Amino acid sequence: MQIKNICCIGAGYVGGPTMAMIALKCPDIKITVVDHNSERIDAWNGSLENLPIYEPGLSDIVKEVRGENLFFSNDVETSINLAEIIFMAVNTPTKTEGKGSGMAADLSNIEACAQTIAKASKSDKIVVEKSTVPIRTAEKIKEILDDNGNEVNFEILSNPEFLAEGTAVKDLYEPDRVLIGGDETESGEKAVAALVDIYSNWIPKDKILTTNVWSSELSKLASNAMLAQRVSSINSLSALCEKTGADIHELSKAIGMDHRIGPHFLRASVGFGGSCFKKDILNLVYLCKYYGLNEVAEYWHQVVKINDYQKKRFAQNIIDRLGGNLEGHKIAILGWAFKTNTNDSRESPAIYISSKLLEKGASLKIYDPMVSKDKIFQDLKEIKISKGISDNLINKQLNQVSIFNNMESSIQDSNGVAILTEWDQFKKYNWKLLKQKNIPVFSHMSL
Ligand code: NAI
Repeated sequence: MQIKNICCIGAGYVGGPTMAMIALKCPDIKITVVDHNSERIDAWNGSLENLPIYEPGLSDIVKEVRGENLFFSNDVETSINLAEIIFMAVNTPTKTEGKGSGMAADLSNIEACAQTIAKASKSDKIVVEKSTVPIRTAEKIKEILDDNGNEVNFEILSNPEFLAEGTAVKDLYEPDRVLIGGDETESGEKAVAALVDIYSNWIPKDKILTTNVWSSELSKLASNAMLAQRVSSINSLSALCEKTGADIHELSKAIGMDHRIGPHFLRASVGFGGSCFKKDILNLVYLCKYYGLNEVAEYWHQVVKINDYQKKRFAQNIIDRLGGNLEGHKIAILGWAFKTNTNDSRESPAIYISSKLLEKGASLKIYDPMVSKDKIFQDLKEIKISKGISDNLINKQLNQVSIFNNMESSIQDSNGVAILTEWDQFKKYNWKLLKQKNIPVFSHMSL
């Protein structure tokens, strides 16, 4: 099947960069990324310096393909109808109400997409799950699509995205693997072949793995769980190091040099953040419980619990070191993004830690090279609201926050510094100068 037109629903951290890469590598395919958030679409169509997502190398690609074969639009239904393949790259957060609240994935965006696709499609379509979804979601999507009351046929594929924010362009250009799950029927195999053809434009065939739909859906949850588990494993050992005099950096190196273990994801940190790890593990835990696998559920749940413990420990360490009551203390918070080289602060440990320090009366001087002032205040407000704190108290605490546009101003006059994102510029600073002045620097980086 010759694909000429692709539509991607969801112009976020996955939809935007992934479609930009496909557009770059497949100049004969027209790609339209649609979203019901018109501000986001306007930003994608606006200045290259202010794209809604910061990723190294992304604006260069967008510059090359936007208006050639890559388009961003709010006209969801027309774009769906014109496409042969429709990617769903919408957000699938943790449910906040109803059955499975706080654990299961909220699939309402996926269901809404399926309903729109069912309504808008006048010809056969391949529908691709790009979002991370629980196992057997394809079944639910199929039910909605097949209830469309017309003669259109839909083939559903699972093609989870493994890019990591901060290195998305590199990951899309040279992925470890591309995973495509499809039905083992004649039409299923044809659909898989059509998607394989697209990726084959730049990815070696041996890196394109085809599986059944359920293996593909579950592989994404399992990969994120395994990665997060390594972070929690090393972080749990950092607690033991602090009690015993062992050095966690030396421990990481010694463990990681074992080729059976390897060095990646073995650096102690303030805890993992981001929109994916926590929600995907909770989703896995929910699935295990649903299938009656309580021991398996508890095993994976512990990964999230250790992460919460690590963030709490980090905050408590600062509080204890500065004497318990932080009134009158000014603390520099360096880094707000959940990791380096992104402007994404979803689930960033900086939010939790700052909130704790504010509770204890500290004044915070925050600096991040990429996250905007408005976003930092919005994040703090949201965490306070989620804790049921009164408006008065929220305003009082937010008045203790100032945002700076460079690291030096943030550090100046502070009597403690917490490094919460490992931006390169923080690594280059001469931290010994502060230590000499007896100003404590709280960080998991080796300074
Ligand atoms: P995002 O929140 O940045 O973007 C999702 C977009 O979908 C939003 O702009 C939203 O307005 C739009 N949307 C939601 N429902 C819609 C609808 N019915 N019609 C039109 N637009 C709609 O989310 P992100 O980070 O791109 O994640 C998307 C999916 O990819 C999630 O399932 C996530 O777990 C998964 N994923 C995310 C990765 C990441 O690093 N952010 C990496 C790999 C997978």
